[in-house]
Amino acid sequence: MTRSLVVKAGGRTLTSNLDGIAESISRVVRMGFKVVFIHGGGDEVTKYSRMMGIEPMFVVSPGGVKSRYTSWEELQVYIMVMAGLVNKRVVSALVNRGVNALGVTGVDAGLVKAVRKKRIIIVDERGRKRVIEGGYTGKITEVSLEVLQRLLAAFEALVIAPIALGDEGVPLNVDGDQMAYAIAARLKAEKLVLLTDVEGVIVDGKVVNVLTPSQAEDLASRVGAGMNRKLLMAAKSVKEGVGEAVIASGLGEDPLAKALKGSGTRIVKAANT
Ligand SMILES: Nc1ncnc2c1ncn2[C@@H]1O[C@H](COP(=O)(O)OP(=O)(O)O)[C@@H](O)[C@H]1O
Ligand SMILES: [Mg+2]
Repeated sequence: MTRSLVVKAGGRTLTSNLDGIAESISRVVRMGFKVVFIHGGGDEVTKYSRMMGIEPMFVVSPGGVKSRYTSWEELQVYIMVMAGLVNKRVVSALVNRGVNALGVTGVDAGLVKAVRKKRIIIVDERGRKRVIEGGYTGKITEVSLEVLQRLLAAFEALVIAPIALGDEGVPLNVDGDQMAYAIAARLKAEKLVLLTDVEGVIVDGKVVNVLTPSQAEDLASRVGAGMNRKLLMAAKSVKEGVGEAVIASGLGEDPLAKALKGSGTRIVKAANT
């Protein structure tokens, strides 16, 4: 069986270290791993939205998770920027290094499906809960193992934009961390690596080295926006059969080698290693 690695990098991390990350992916590919890489790109979407005269909006859930609010207009920019600009930048960097990489979205071949969040509960500026029209973000419902396997048989790396095919036949904005979890769990990947712009999960000024899934879930309510979601997704992936999840820095040289060697925060079934 081929060894698979699911890697996600946030937009900020990717923008500041595209070459470092691409080089690192090319090395693990040469080590014999099949890599599924999910990219963020929120800052780029924000930039091009503003250029097109659309002011982006963000909402906060009662659990403290912050997300982009995707209006119909914003969805159009989101698709252009994520599936086009950001995705092709990553694919270019990989192919340029000799990696046989294919860039797709979750829409292509029905790889990732989602249901549109018709209504969402948000916490407004005054801290009050409100129900609003959900816009065009989706909750992932299905990842096609067959499509994944066929693509991984043909390519060394897949670069996937966080867009899923919605239940109403429209592409939807889905969260990159959630997509990475869903794909890793479906593949029962050897590892899920969430690369970000901090060294790992920080508690009392120090990086936490290792957590069990239930410890990660507990800790999620005590860390800030961005990191809480990563902890939840990492915990879920390990519970569902991924060998190990790592939350680590995507900055600097060869971030994947460092993450695989044990830097950052590891979420493992039994926290004795
Ligand atoms: N306890 C914590 N430890 C580490 N980072 C945290 C913590 N609480 C909040 N964060 C924030 O989470 C961010 C990473 O999440 P996010 O901004 O969503 O990045 P990404 O684009 O990689 O998904 C960090 O930049 C940091 O500011
Ligand atoms: Mg994030």
